Amino acid sequence: MASNDFDLLIIGTGISGLSCAIRAAESGLRVCVLSKESKLSECNTNYAQGGIVSYGIGGDSPEKLAEDIIQAGDFLNSREAVSIVSGEGPAAVDSFLMDKLGVPFDRAPDGSVDRTQEAAHSLRRIYHVKDTTGNAIETAMLAYAAKCPNLELRSSRIAVDVITNTHHSTDNQQRYKKPRALGAYVLDENSGEVEAYFAPATVLATGGVGNLFLHTSNPQCASGDGIAMASRAGAAILNAEYVQFHPTVLFHRDIKRFLISESVRGEGAKLMNRQGSYFMERYEPELKDLAPRDKVARAIYFEMEATDSSYVLLDTRTMEVDIAERFPGIYATCQKAGIDIRNEPIPVVPAAHFFCGGVKVDSFGRTSIPGLYAVGETACTGVHGANRLASVSLLEGLVFGLRAAERIAKKSEDIPLGLAATIPDWVYPHEEEAMDPILIGHDIQNIQTTMWDYVGIIRTKKRLARASADLNYLVHRVESFYKEAELSKKLIELRNGIVAAQLIAGAASSNPVSLGCHYIR
Ligand code: SIN
Repeated sequence: MASNDFDLLIIGTGISGLSCAIRAAESGLRVCVLSKESKLSECNTNYAQGGIVSYGIGGDSPEKLAEDIIQAGDFLNSREAVSIVSGEGPAAVDSFLMDKLGVPFDRAPDGSVDRTQEAAHSLRRIYHVKDTTGNAIETAMLAYAAKCPNLELRSSRIAVDVITNTHHSTDNQQRYKKPRALGAYVLDENSGEVEAYFAPATVLATGGVGNLFLHTSNPQCASGDGIAMASRAGAAILNAEYVQFHPTVLFHRDIKRFLISESVRGEGAKLMNRQGSYFMERYEPELKDLAPRDKVARAIYFEMEATDSSYVLLDTRTMEVDIAERFPGIYATCQKAGIDIRNEPIPVVPAAHFFCGGVKVDSFGRTSIPGLYAVGETACTGVHGANRLASVSLLEGLVFGLRAAERIAKKSEDIPLGLAATIPDWVYPHEEEAMDPILIGHDIQNIQTTMWDYVGIIRTKKRLARASADLNYLVHRVESFYKEAELSKKLIELRNGIVAAQLIAGAASSNPVSLGCHYIR
């Protein structure tokens, strides 16, 4: 067996990819997990602050959790997917994350797991590790995965494309067959070589699209890779217009992409405008600062417009906990920014945070292409509908990562004999040009400003038409770079980013109905 042949290839090292990898490896599959980063932990999961949903104490139930998820999602949610996540999720958090992996969730004084509050949850039900829950989960998962005998973790490997029989086989009869995923072409950043990886099942777990927007809470790696690769392979994409903007990201000249967790509002902080007046009760009289995220982000946008301001303030003086003790990560970063949050409000703005749409999958993570799976933020299971409820994303990643692994372990179909041998080695461009980083950087910035200005929190028909026109122009330039230049991570991300941006702008343009986080003025 060649060294790049596996039973399961997983692209991405967040909670969905690693839960899938661990469960599959423990079922006896030979699993390879790729990260495009040199540091395996560099992914969105690692930066999650608030926590992961379980059941609250005293009167919570799968039905109640499902009701909150559906209400926040503006009733566009898949009822089947919601019932899976609300029914199976909390037990998976306990048995997989806490008991098996040893994630050290914070404890209440009586020894039970402490639950925090976030917006639009009808009670306190969110497990957390201070304000660095994602990092605690990621660290535990990577440590466990590194010890799994059947599991290989490879860093600095960026997937270029999913290999399918219909797109890549040199046997011309394959074009008449049904498409099937066979693995992926992958650039090894250390050697500069592109290698073919083969596996009967390939799982896309590459995270979301935050980096396509000028302002985001996401790390740079969230560049829409899995969505773009799946779309090029011919897989169906769903709900791409629903990009969630988190209401509160730190507004600071030098510190970018830093989230101020919604659980800070859950613990009593209140939004106020720069004139010092609390404004949420004017927009959402019932839930106020704890209304669903789409509504709070829009209220902030309107308030910034009305007061001609680039940010609003989060007043922490109304909190009942010691903010420095409960939120040490946020406290430390704000200290670095020169803000003493025990005594002064935090300047915040909304920023792109989470992709509620993605590659359309069934309840086992199967896409419309046999052999190709998607999990986590890359996938659209339908759990989130038009707007995600806080702290449900880690839960969705965990539940559907495990479900995909179980399905693959039971039912994966081998690659037909001889088919892999018809897949050619990667063909490098004739006269490879070294790519000028200024050109790539400029095009990435172009995408980011286009998406932020025209496909942002408030959309209009005109803005969306402009976005599509600008992106259509840019896509040709990017494709010709790609065909001529030496491959690099940045170039692959740019090529994926433009495809994902087109999918989002296209879906937004063709849906005139405002719902959840897709809002047309
Ligand atoms: C937060 O801590 O506010 C983010 C949690 C989430 O995105 O669900």
